[in-house]
Amino acid sequence: MEKKRSLIDIIDEYVKSGKVKLPVMDQNSLLVQKEISKNDPDMDKIINLIKKDISLTTEVLKISNSPFYKGLEQVKTVQDAVIRLGMVEVTNIVLLACQKNSFRAQDPILQDWMNKMWIHSVGCAVGSQWLARYYQYDNLNEAFLAGLLHDVGAFFLLSVLDQIKAKNATMPHKLIEDIVIKMHTNYGNMLLTDWSLPEQYCTIARDHHAAEFDTANLLLVMLRFSDKVCQNLNIGMVENKDVDIFACEEAAILDISDITIAQLQIKMEDSLRLS
Ligand SMILES: [Fe+2]
Ligand SMILES: [Fe+2]
Repeated sequence: MEKKRSLIDIIDEYVKSGKVKLPVMDQNSLLVQKEISKNDPDMDKIINLIKKDISLTTEVLKISNSPFYKGLEQVKTVQDAVIRLGMVEVTNIVLLACQKNSFRAQDPILQDWMNKMWIHSVGCAVGSQWLARYYQYDNLNEAFLAGLLHDVGAFFLLSVLDQIKAKNATMPHKLIEDIVIKMHTNYGNMLLTDWSLPEQYCTIARDHHAAEFDTANLLLVMLRFSDKVCQNLNIGMVENKDVDIFACEEAAILDISDITIAQLQIKMEDSLRLS
């Protein structure tokens, strides 16, 4: 217990002292994500921002040609992708491309956890958007981005722990797992606030595991439910087969049927082909 406290103290101290700088999100990616978050995003503006950035363009084309989207013809330009896949899918792809590889770890075990967290975030994004469509939520992109960003605090903590570990600190895996689980919501909220992302994403980062939450916040409830389905399907860092997705509070709020849950599970398992 003492050991756990001390590592938490070290992390807080690291962050507060400025030894760990908060990661700065690439300005272009941030502009793209802010435009996409709008209720009526300007697709031409988005395409132009993507085209200005070679690595973003490459990533968009790579995901457009991934097995999840694979069509008969190869997608060769961003405009091709828009025509072939439509605006909602292309904005999903752009969001994936903006977020992917934002965080990296030197330590192979921590990097492996980041990879698992990425798969989990993509699963939650796909699940939340599927639910958003089902419940006729007015902004499908917002639901997707909420999924991608909700656990950003876990990525951040893993990268801080990576820097601490590099100084030869011993860290049992269980301890790392406990710390990430316990602290990722606060750090996620702090990071998204620091990036000046719209408030709904900061709230979701903070409240997605909270015992008390705003049950009228549909975006939050859909994300919390997707998160539980992911845990139940073992999509992520921590498997939790004990989550009863058919009888949890979120299922009751959403008034979701068992058949709809089964459809959602299929969709979320399919998301594994995206990451
Ligand atoms: Fe989480
Ligand atoms: Fe999560």
